[in-house]
Amino acid sequence: MNMETKKMNKKTDKYKERLQRHHDELRWLYMELYGNDSMFAELCDNMHRFYQERKDTLKSLDMQREAHPDWYKQNDMMGMMFYIDNFAGNMKGVEKKLDYIQECNVNYIHLMPFLDTVPERSDGGYAVADFRKVQEKLGTMEDLEDLTDACHKKNINVCMDFVMNHTSEDHEWAKRARQGDGEYMSRYFFFRDYSIPSMYEKTVPQVFPTTAPGNFTWLEDAGHFVMTTFYPYQWDLNYKNPRVFNEMMYNFLFLANKGIDIIRIDAVPYIWKELHTQCRNLKQVHTIVRMMRIISEIVCPGILLLGEVVMEPEKVAPYFGTVEKPECHMLYNVTTMATTWHTVATRDVRLLKKQLDIVNGLPKDYVFLNYLRCHDDIGWGLDYPTLLSEGIGERSHKEYLNNYFQGYAGASNSRGELYNADPVTGDARFCGTTASMCGIEKACFEQDEQAMQKAIQLDVMLHAYMFMQSGIPVLYGGDEIGQVNDYSYKEDPNKAADSRYLHRGAMNWTLAENITDQTTVEGQMFTRLSELEQIRKQERVFVSNADTWTIETWDSSVLCIGRYFEGEKILGLFNFSEYDKTAWINETDGEYVDLISGRKMQASGVDIPAYGFYYLKKING
Ligand code: GLC
Repeated sequence: MNMETKKMNKKTDKYKERLQRHHDELRWLYMELYGNDSMFAELCDNMHRFYQERKDTLKSLDMQREAHPDWYKQNDMMGMMFYIDNFAGNMKGVEKKLDYIQECNVNYIHLMPFLDTVPERSDGGYAVADFRKVQEKLGTMEDLEDLTDACHKKNINVCMDFVMNHTSEDHEWAKRARQGDGEYMSRYFFFRDYSIPSMYEKTVPQVFPTTAPGNFTWLEDAGHFVMTTFYPYQWDLNYKNPRVFNEMMYNFLFLANKGIDIIRIDAVPYIWKELHTQCRNLKQVHTIVRMMRIISEIVCPGILLLGEVVMEPEKVAPYFGTVEKPECHMLYNVTTMATTWHTVATRDVRLLKKQLDIVNGLPKDYVFLNYLRCHDDIGWGLDYPTLLSEGIGERSHKEYLNNYFQGYAGASNSRGELYNADPVTGDARFCGTTASMCGIEKACFEQDEQAMQKAIQLDVMLHAYMFMQSGIPVLYGGDEIGQVNDYSYKEDPNKAADSRYLHRGAMNWTLAENITDQTTVEGQMFTRLSELEQIRKQERVFVSNADTWTIETWDSSVLCIGRYFEGEKILGLFNFSEYDKTAWINETDGEYVDLISGRKMQASGVDIPAYGFYYLKKING
């Protein structure tokens, strides 16, 4: 047997071994949901086909990662998310910017939705018309493969969205369903009249109460209602139909085979619907995610599943599954993100401390993605029972936060806009970039140098705190240079009604040329973030499964986070107020050094300037 054949056999055995390990559970789950032997057999055949089609380089990467299952929990993991057109025009453009990405210390990029969509009905690309075609303006599937190859050569991981809850109404299936083809109608939720939809509406909340009210859309030409949880042109898929599940799994494997490392399962809590329920987080959703995890562990174990669960912590954590039956590898730390902005507005870290304690109390193997801003709005999903115990009501507090971040409250320097303000519930979410919310936009407009320094300081402090959290930090592209809100979306009729485009502006490469010029905002932001990122890469204590906890500082504006890993300890101190403070901590176990200034100091009674922070590392020995 020559070397090549030996290698081939090893890889075939690998597949068999993985299949054997997982087959019974997969079959069990599939039968529980669908009770359909022939569809299961078809699924297995196709899994094998996708495995055979998988490139050798990807199969080798799979094996490497299987041998080191903690590969993504290391302290060098740092993400950045961006829209391809905004960032670099198209896929080829992104390939040319990989050096810049590395300069940002980023080794994982989330390419925002790039699959085929109709511009007038795209929801930022989350309405997919063809899962196997790249939007023409961005490139081709070959360009995607070239890009993932180029990324892998530089050890950069690539993440993409898998929008599995719905298709665009321009998808082939939807077009056929619209023409009355029963086979395709059964892939969605079609109703002849409003009687059943009206029953759903009694229990199902609304995602876009202002921009897309209701959960159903009347199709005049088809003479039917169709379920549309999001926009009217995003038709919910019916996962009770095994054909939908199988086909979507083939799409998933097809994309995985293009060299994708991280699959972000969009809007995952919504994928199973039952009458008389909220149609969120139903137990069948977990069966489906578990099946996806098993399928990927058999065909492409090098990939990670990232669940998008924008819900309160008790609903998020179950998407990790259990140790024996894991579901997602990673989830967003969404409540912590929202609570962070609450803290910025109130200068009171107590709720944030409590929230971090909840996250820190979860098993260390759970990996959260930490972020300050993303492409979506900020929903004020805070711990209201706790706030109420202090006399702070939900409705009035949301109003306060929205006013604050629009810049209406006295001590606010923020700029931004409301999103989906609901006149009935009084609820509204918020849009804006980190820099604008920290005051950089206002200070720039007013040419107020002192205010600018304060704004930059707050922005950098927030990043320093975000890097200290347990998990993997993800930058929102443009934040590294302090990019502000972009109001030009108002002139584009396809975007004007959706204020999320406020923080989806194009990367300003002219400003990015300033990253080494310390007299500019870009230069200061980039250099200071870079310094923190370097520290994070060098210090093992930033691995995602380090012990992480909070420490009481006896000042309600100062947060202290401790991290410990294999004998190394670090304390992060963060002042969320514009006044100088003292952190009344008392860690008397030795001397510390501030990793940023290099200054040796004691970790007790630490004076900390306005919006200041320290990374105090314990000096061993
Ligand atoms: C996710 C996306 C959001 C999109 C929605 C519908 O929540 O992050 O941008 O509107 O899914 O696909």
